Amino acid sequence: MVLIESPHGFALTLKNGRRLFVSSPSKDAFRIREAGVDSSKAPSLHLNVNREKDGVRFISHKASLLLHDDGSIAICKSGRLIAAASPIIPPASSIEKDGLSAKEGHKPEGEFSFSKEGYAFVNDSPVYGLGDKTGPLDKRGYSYVNWNTDDPSAQVDTFKSLYKSIPFFVMFHRSESIGVYLDNTGRSLFDFNKNDSRRIEVSYEEGLLDLYLFVGSLIGVCESFSSLVGRPPLPPRWSLGYQQSRWSYGDEKEVEDVLANYREIDVPVSVIHLDIAYMEQYEDFTIDSKRFPDFSAWAETLLRQGVHLVTIIDAGIKALPGYFMYDEGEKGNHFATLKGRIYHNEVWPGDSVFPAFIKVKTQQWWASHVEKLLNQGVSGIWNDMNEPASFKGPLPPDVDMGGLPHSLAHNIYGDRMAKATYMGFMKAKRRPFIITRAAYATTSRYSTMWTGDNQAIWDHLRLTIPQQCNLSISGVQMIGNDIGGFGGDTTKELLIRWIELGLFSPLMRNHSAYGTRRQEGYAFDEETSRIYSKAVHLRYELIPYFYDKLREAEAHGTPVYRPLIMNFPSDSRLVDENTEFMIGEALLVAPALFPGERFRSVYFPGVFYDFFSGKRFAKGDHLVNVPLDRIPLFVKRGSLVPLGEKGTSSPEFGATLRLLTTKGDASYVHYEDSGDGLGYLNGEFNLFQIEKKKAALSVSYIHEGMKTHYGAIELVDFQGHEKKVLFGF
Ligand code: GLC
Repeated sequence: MVLIESPHGFALTLKNGRRLFVSSPSKDAFRIREAGVDSSKAPSLHLNVNREKDGVRFISHKASLLLHDDGSIAICKSGRLIAAASPIIPPASSIEKDGLSAKEGHKPEGEFSFSKEGYAFVNDSPVYGLGDKTGPLDKRGYSYVNWNTDDPSAQVDTFKSLYKSIPFFVMFHRSESIGVYLDNTGRSLFDFNKNDSRRIEVSYEEGLLDLYLFVGSLIGVCESFSSLVGRPPLPPRWSLGYQQSRWSYGDEKEVEDVLANYREIDVPVSVIHLDIAYMEQYEDFTIDSKRFPDFSAWAETLLRQGVHLVTIIDAGIKALPGYFMYDEGEKGNHFATLKGRIYHNEVWPGDSVFPAFIKVKTQQWWASHVEKLLNQGVSGIWNDMNEPASFKGPLPPDVDMGGLPHSLAHNIYGDRMAKATYMGFMKAKRRPFIITRAAYATTSRYSTMWTGDNQAIWDHLRLTIPQQCNLSISGVQMIGNDIGGFGGDTTKELLIRWIELGLFSPLMRNHSAYGTRRQEGYAFDEETSRIYSKAVHLRYELIPYFYDKLREAEAHGTPVYRPLIMNFPSDSRLVDENTEFMIGEALLVAPALFPGERFRSVYFPGVFYDFFSGKRFAKGDHLVNVPLDRIPLFVKRGSLVPLGEKGTSSPEFGATLRLLTTKGDASYVHYEDSGDGLGYLNGEFNLFQIEKKKAALSVSYIHEGMKTHYGAIELVDFQGHEKKVLFGF
């Protein structure tokens, strides 16, 4: 093999004439790409090279990659083989081809040929990641297609695709896991040990090979992946408060009634979402002046009560001459075209056209409208229908979305819409709060995400844990689902269990569909309202911990919503744990997940304490009571957990930092800033190193960039005893 070194890595030609480049984007990662792929997407660190019998070994800081001249690869660390893969040309395959559902008259998903040369990995260990796909935490035995899909039917284990495409997965080993990222924006097929119990097959329909391989612990691999694709910006602190939505609160009065009803049952609300009815005729960037006669003044009044407005913006633009977005978009060539003419399909506004979001010029145009909307008093933007959804059949593959055909643009369409929205926040000099339904691997750097249209069914309550753990592994940290379920009528018990689980989602929002029964926390009986209030108050108390974890995610890419195996990698009991999860390294949640469930088994992988009573649980299985009003939350021994002031209804920093402690020494990094705005990017924040040894506590600044909010620190033990410890702030 002839080897040529360039600043972008080594170029070589395989036996079959295929030309590849090998580089090292970080000290624990390798990149293999075909000639023609943009090299600038990732840095290229120094690699040592050894020629071997039938290949070349590339040696990085942490591991080595042996590339044989037939294209097969082996990754070794400390002389041990830890991963191997060989090229495959999969047979032309199809989804649902000759399938039962087609026979029964349903529309088949179509025939797709994944005939591009992909890779088959030797694997029999647990597999995690791949974004939002349905099914259990461990993906072995399932195959999935990355193709952003809006399918209104109940999302079940047999679904191949959902709203997001994050072509990244991890083959888990207790010491060295391997992360695999296929950066291909077209349709790709990932078969996790389904066709062959010892193989994972990765293949794709179009485009060129661009494959990244990461080596390290599960958490380390996640951090490296997120540093490559972009880390999630710290959200404004108010967005960690309780968010209420419904399709659709129709006018000012309805929103005010919702807020008043919540006040009555003592539930603080930090965010109200306005779904499509706030617009005129579903026209983006308009506000119906009959329903919202003085929107800005009204928004200002709500803000004074601590309530932020988030407005929905859909991808499809109403095709109506005279509507400014249509006219400007047509004039500026901002719409996707087919054979040179603006392409039309149908979404909520009826006949619609689609911004060519791949084009930077179109992103800038969009950003200027986002900026204007923000300046009218809106605090956050909710991006929807951006797969893009299309009611009159799928967009043809050759629709030009702004320099890329739909077949390659589809999976990044929502990503670029999120980017354009983010650019609007930057123009307005505001800390971004964006929620998107469709996403690609890079979307977290712009936007938070919700999991789309779930249903008010117990299966979807249970799906929360594996789905959000896998999203978190895939780099998405500010994540949540529709509490209570979007479609269908929720029940009292389901809503209670969902708020008790949903309070631990970084993005905590109750949302429901048009025509379903009302599911705000006050919509049932006194008992439901009381439990709802208790759950939301617990969330507000935990905001300081969530904010720290999200800051860590921005700084290091560290997952927030974690499967237990991430914190306890040597405990094989945990490889497919779907009913418990952790927030960061300290909190373990074991919710009730079935109707009528009043006690459940909880497995503790170490010593934990009940968050409320302080009861100690040794490593092992325990039976735990879960009456309707019990939130099964546990704290790991040796933790420090920052808490908000007792009973607080505010997401903002208080004057006292309360620290929950357990037995055992502990060390913790706590972050403080103004809670909103962009000043923290210029160093306006404090970072504290907190150490607890025996009974002694020490606090020191790692970074001091602003006057602290805190006058005191209180140590809290489980009996609720608060010991005031004053520091010289
Ligand atoms: C889509 C969204 C949903 C929203 C509805 C109306 O179905 O996923 O959240 O309420 O559109 O805008």
